[in-house]
Formats: sequence, C-alpha cells, structure tokens
Amino acid sequence: FGYINYLVERDRGSILNTLVKGLKRLEYRGYDSAGIAVDGDEGQDFLLFKEVGKVNKLAETVEKSNVDMSKKFKTHCAISHTRWATHGKPSPVNCHPQRSDPHSEFVVVHNGIFTNYRELRTVLESRNMAFESETDTECVAKLCKLVYDSSPGISFIELAKIVIRELEGAFALLIKSSHYPGEVIATRRGSPLLVGLKSSKKLKVDFVDVEFPEPSSDSDGKKSPTPLRPFFSETNGETMLRGDKPELLHRPQSRAFVPEEGSPGPVEYFFASDATPIIEYTKRVMFMEDDDIAHVSSNGELHVHRLRRDANASTTRAIETLEMEIASVMKGSFNHYMEKEIFEQPESLMNTMRGRVNFADGLVKLGGLEAYYDIMRRSRRLIFIACGTSYHSCLAVRPTFEELTGLPVVVELASDFMDRRPPLYRDDTVVFVSQSGETADTLSALRYALEHGALTVGVVNVVGSSISRQTHCGVHINAGPEICVASTKAYTSQFVALILIALYLSRDSVSRAERRAAIITGLGELCEKAREALKLSSSLKQLVQERLLQEKNMLVIGRGYHYATAMEGALKVKEISYMHAEGIMAGELKHGTLALVDKDIPIVMFMSDDSNVHKTKNAYEQVVARGGRPILIANDESLALQKSSAFVVPKTVDCLQGIINVIPMQIIAYWLAVLRGYDVDQPRNLAKSVTVE
Ligand code: G6P
Repeated sequence: FGYINYLVERDRGSILNTLVKGLKRLEYRGYDSAGIAVDGDEGQDFLLFKEVGKVNKLAETVEKSNVDMSKKFKTHCAISHTRWATHGKPSPVNCHPQRSDPHSEFVVVHNGIFTNYRELRTVLESRNMAFESETDTECVAKLCKLVYDSSPGISFIELAKIVIRELEGAFALLIKSSHYPGEVIATRRGSPLLVGLKSSKKLKVDFVDVEFPEPSSDSDGKKSPTPLRPFFSETNGETMLRGDKPELLHRPQSRAFVPEEGSPGPVEYFFASDATPIIEYTKRVMFMEDDDIAHVSSNGELHVHRLRRDANASTTRAIETLEMEIASVMKGSFNHYMEKEIFEQPESLMNTMRGRVNFADGLVKLGGLEAYYDIMRRSRRLIFIACGTSYHSCLAVRPTFEELTGLPVVVELASDFMDRRPPLYRDDTVVFVSQSGETADTLSALRYALEHGALTVGVVNVVGSSISRQTHCGVHINAGPEICVASTKAYTSQFVALILIALYLSRDSVSRAERRAAIITGLGELCEKAREALKLSSSLKQLVQERLLQEKNMLVIGRGYHYATAMEGALKVKEISYMHAEGIMAGELKHGTLALVDKDIPIVMFMSDDSNVHKTKNAYEQVVARGGRPILIANDESLALQKSSAFVVPKTVDCLQGIINVIPMQIIAYWLAVLRGYDVDQPRNLAKSVTVE
C-alpha cells in the first residue's frame, strides 16, 4: 500500500494512520510481518518501521515511537507492506520495505518472487554491495542504488526502467527514494496493483496516456519492439553497467492525470494490491497492466510508461469508478469476517443471479458470454481450471455440465495442469474459476491456454482482476468482497454462476428443457433455503463442543454431487481449525479409508435424496458396521438415520443441493476455530490471494 499527498497538507500522524489502515485492510492477503517507510524530518532521510506479526503490532510500534507526529508535509510519499513470506522467514530484517543501504536511499515493497534473484544478488555482491536480508526484494533496492550511483542526473523513471528490465518473475513493486522526494514508482508483472486517485478539483480526464519508447527500426525499415537488453556485461573481467542512456520518450501531448487544466494538484494517490484500502478515500481507480510503470513525478502528475512498444497494446489506461461500498469490507456487527460472509450467503447468492435469471420465463442471460456462445457450444471439451475452494466449485458442477451440455468435461487443479502441460486445442473452452482473479497458478494456466489458442472464460469475483481482464469473456460472480482467507460465500456464488453457465449453454436443447426449468425453479428458492440452513448454527456449535473440539481428525464423506461438498467441507475444517480432515468419495471408502473407521473417529456424511441415495445408504451401513458413529447432514427426515446426530437441511434440486449442504460444514469449521481460540479470518501460514506459484 502506498500513499502520496501532493499539495495536500497532512501531518505525519495522519499519514501513518492512513498507512496502518491501508495495511489492515490488505492484511488478509498475508500477515506474517509488516513495515512502513515515511519521510524523516529532513525530508532526505526515511523512517522505517518494521514488525514481525500482525499489522496491529506494527501499529503499536508506530504509536510508541517518539517521532514528531505533528510534523506537517505538504507533499509526501510513503510505502508500506504486509508480508506472506516466500524468501526468508518472517523477521525484522526480512520485512519490507527493503532498503538499498543503511541510509535507505531507495526503499522497496514487493509482492511476488524474482526468479533471477540469485544471479542479481551475485552480481550486486560482486560490486561490494552487502546484503542484510534473505529476501529477493533487497536486490531491487540495491540495483536502484547501483544505477543511481553510475548514472549522474538520471531521472527516477529512467532509473526504474533500467532496473525493471533486469527483473524476471512475478512482481508488484513500489519504489521510493530520498533522491526523488515526493515521487514514487509503481510497477507490476503478474501480481495485481492499482492506483486510486483523489482530487478536490473536478477530474478533467478519464484516462491516462501510456508512454512508449520511440519504436526502433530494423535495417529494412520495419518497426520492431525495443529489445530487452541485459543490464550487466562483462568487459575485461569487470562488471560494467549498460543501458544508462535514457530512452527517448514518445510524448507528443501526454495527458497525464492532471485534475484541472494547467494545474496538477492538489491530489492524493493510493497504490494498493486491491481496492479494499482505497474505497474509503476514492472510488476513482486505474488498474495497472503487466509491465506498466506508473510514475508520480515531482509535479504531482501520474504517467504510465512501457518498456516496449507492443503493436496491439492499448495506449491509454482508463480511470474507472468502482461500485464497491465501504460497508462491504467492514465486519459490521459480526465477530469475524467469516461469520459475516457465511451469513451473507442468502444475499450473495441473490446477487450472483440478479439480472441474469428470468424466473418467469425460465431464461438465463449472461451478457459476458453472448458473443462467444456459438464457439463455446461447438467446443471439443470444456476444461475447468482452478485452485483450492474454487477447484471444488468446479468439481461440484461437473455432473451438471456433463448432463446439460453433453460435452466432455475436465476439471483440473491449476498447479498440476501446469506441471503436466497437457495437450490443449483451439477448439477447447477453458474456464478459469477464481475468487481473487489473481492466483498465480491459475494465471499461469490461463497464459498457457491463450498460447494454445483455446477460448478462455473467467469466472471471477474481483472486478478488474487479472483473470477477468485477460480471459476472452466471462461472468463475475458478484459475491462482494470476501475478506476471510477461508472462502465461503465465494464458493456458493461460484457454484451458482457455473450452474447459470451450464443452463445458458443448453438453452437451445429442447430435450433438456424440463430439467432446465426444474433447476431454475430451484434457483428461485435457493436463497430462502440457504437462510433456513443457517439456522442450524447453534445446534452445530453444540455438536462441535460435545463431539469435535478435542478431536484431531475428521472424515467427510459424500458421493456424486456431494464429493465436492465433502472435499470443500474438509478443506474448511483444515484451513481454520488446524484439524486434519479428509474429504472422501463414498464409493472409495471400501478401498482404503474404511481402515480408519472405529467408534472414535469423527465422520460427517452427506445423505441426500438423489439418484445415488441407495449407494449412500450402503456407505453409511459400511461405516456403522465398523462401529462408526457418523454425523449426518441429510436433506430429508427419512435420511436422518440416527436422530441424535443428524442435521436436516432444506431439500432442493439434486444438482443445487451442494450449495445448501456445504453451509453446515462452513459453520462447523467456524465454531471449531472460534472455540479453539484460533484466528478465524487469518489462519496461520495461509493467505487469501496467492500470487506466487
Ligand atoms: C488460496 C486461498 C483459498 C482459495 C485459493 C484459490 O489458497 O486461501 O481460500 O480457495 O487460494 O484462490 P482464488 O482466488 O483463485 O479462488
């Protein structure tokens, strides 16, 4: 999170407060340590605050520090970060901001991983630059200083271009320097970054021009993209610096972000990995594209630069108005975000369907897919790719897609898909499902699909996210911001959005009309049924207290439509209560897991009245015959075979039942974590948006 106030007077206390608040909002993305860099008293030195642990600890450190909080700054730039460790364990020295030297001439915050950081570090060390941390990020700060020291008079943006050319891997970066007070560099490749713009004056522009270097010409006169040059070269055994000549910029009539003609300010800029910390200040944002380098210059203007001229790349970046409300990222009267998000499901499900389902005439309209309907229908296969909970939502709808579209359906974990790099064809449709729209594994599979010419469809919650922008078409699930690391409402909304796609793709099939009508009727009653299921909360709390709290393992068993529910239920329990839980396909019980069954091991079984009910009952009998005492989640009284430990949820259409059945599992996981005293919203070692592979 970064914040710049240009010609807007702020004291240090309020600047620090803005940063701490920003970090708190972003904390769900990673929370093992945090840090802030702000200007010191002389304006030429920086104050660095760093703390291992949650942002609250950092806030205490800031509060206890004896810096002058009343010191006023008319123009000030500050950067901050909350970390999910990749290189180097959480420790004060590994916290970001990372610095170039003990005087902190350059400070950097970074999300992602530099894949060439060992090479960079070796070269930098050979230039007598001593590293203090184990992070890959420190290389960037050091590289900035190296370029600065070797290129007298270089501007911040030209320096940044030289440095960024050297970086490989995924990153979102903010760079601040005492040599360029009031300026900031922000850039991304693979990790999300957006800029919020707040001006007291009326905004004159709705876009920022992108600035390209002058295209270089081949000998035959054809324009070619500027090649990436290596920064270092070996000459006479000495490492030399190259690329220190600023490139000519193509800036005929640059329309930077200038709120009013002739006057750049006053203006405040917010840089963040997502919109949650920005919306309380401004709803006007610019989403950055991969390889954009945004620069706020010393006169308060925002310019976007590219290293290369790409023939098809857009030459502007729109300044968009977000529709998100601040209340949607607050806990309100709930104790935890997870509790809020579980209980929000009747509304979030409705929001997923809003404007898309016409219950009266049984039609589903998905504007985001309309132009691609024929291509999707004619696909050779439908391939769903996702991670974690999103993967489970794909598993949950596979039978429905098979049934309604008649197409072969493949469901893939993104990481495994990329490990195998399987054959993919131009006539495949690949659906990418992701709450955040930023998961690195899923994004990498998306790039693979694009390279192979397949049609790509995004099913994403976060508007403006990388997956939603890089796919050919798609559907937003509209569940609203999900803050708890463990996904709940996004799962049920993904489930519904995917069902809508299945219905949509089968709209021309007469033989499936009756089935479609039944599902649409089911969708119409879904929110009310979800509301009913939520009423089980207090009896499930009692179950947790009496039977589960002291346990170490749990089996969650389902079949057919409920295999996915079992997997998702087990994942919820693992993620937040740290209890080992395994989702089991009931048909596979007898092939191994039955060996674990005795009177003690907690078992949850989904007993749903569908075409597999007899087989489900068989699995139940197999468990009971081994002394097992399953807890049943049944959708009919007649299936509550052991009244003492059965929970009856409302019955809906078989292919939608998973949406209702998962709710008791979400609640069980929630109470397990609360009663064990764990951090429900920010479980250890995890992060909401995993932007590294
Ligand atoms: C992380 C989160 C999970 C999430 C998964 C996929 O592991 O902790 O809750 O299901 O990423 O995230 P996505 O944003 O792609 O749905």
